[in-house]
Amino acid sequence: SQVTVLAPATVANVVCGFDVLGFALHEPYDTMRMRLTDKPGVTIINKDDYNLPTQAERNVAGGALLALLRDATDVVGFEVEITKAIMPGSGIGSSAASAAGAVVGANHLLGNRYSPAELVRFAMYGEEIASGVQHADNIAPCIYGGVTLIRATQPLDIVPLAAPPLWVTVVHPQIEVRTSDARDILKKQVLLKDAIRQWGNVGGLVAGLLKSDYALIGRSLEDVIIEPVRSILIPGFADVKLEAKKAGALGGGISGSGPSIFMLSQDEDTARQVEAGMSETYTRLGIDFHTYVTTI
Ligand code: HSE
Repeated sequence: SQVTVLAPATVANVVCGFDVLGFALHEPYDTMRMRLTDKPGVTIINKDDYNLPTQAERNVAGGALLALLRDATDVVGFEVEITKAIMPGSGIGSSAASAAGAVVGANHLLGNRYSPAELVRFAMYGEEIASGVQHADNIAPCIYGGVTLIRATQPLDIVPLAAPPLWVTVVHPQIEVRTSDARDILKKQVLLKDAIRQWGNVGGLVAGLLKSDYALIGRSLEDVIIEPVRSILIPGFADVKLEAKKAGALGGGISGSGPSIFMLSQDEDTARQVEAGMSETYTRLGIDFHTYVTTI
């Protein structure tokens, strides 16, 4: 038997929640076709031009499936055919979609023997291949859908969060930022006054989502720790944010480790105006870009 999985793009961090908050988008998504094989291990077939590795240990879907196979000792192997719509290095969870989609597909083929939390754990091995660290803030929302909080990774504690309707505008300037580079430049220490501001915002954002308080969500979308460092890697960042706010966005910032920038809006009309504002900035700067307008 064969299974087809649609693995959605995700926005990690959600501005103030570095490595702990994330949400899934309705589009774009990768398409993965999978089946069980008699050939031991993981066979990868890439159906796109991104030149991604086909060797299982070097491929994020492969790494995730090998982790699952170490546990599922009765299973011989998987074949996975990946058609990526989420561009690698775009900052909307391309590697997480491959890793999460692969283990979700495998679990279906195995009669759903694993819980979503166990799947997140396997997929984190794939994510490690891409970024050098096992973060789950893209993987968890990719598997659970909606907004998730990773309260802790050791042991893993995932909290799915209710949220009011939210529109998301994403602009992806066509420059590449490697997650590992975007992590290397971060300061390893944080000032207490910045930490206080940041956890006030994380608490505010979670409360705003649960209470459907759009104004509180908007004020809490502020990052005083990561954004000041990382935004230097993204041309036009300040302008794009300003234009988006002028167009009525609640707020937003760098998606994951960038270079994509995302903005949240309360309704579709606003999200489209935000798209126009953000696009204008990159057109003016002469930088090629892609946009998405979708919902959480
Ligand atoms: N939380 C991770 C980071 C997400 O910002 O480095 C990477 O997609």
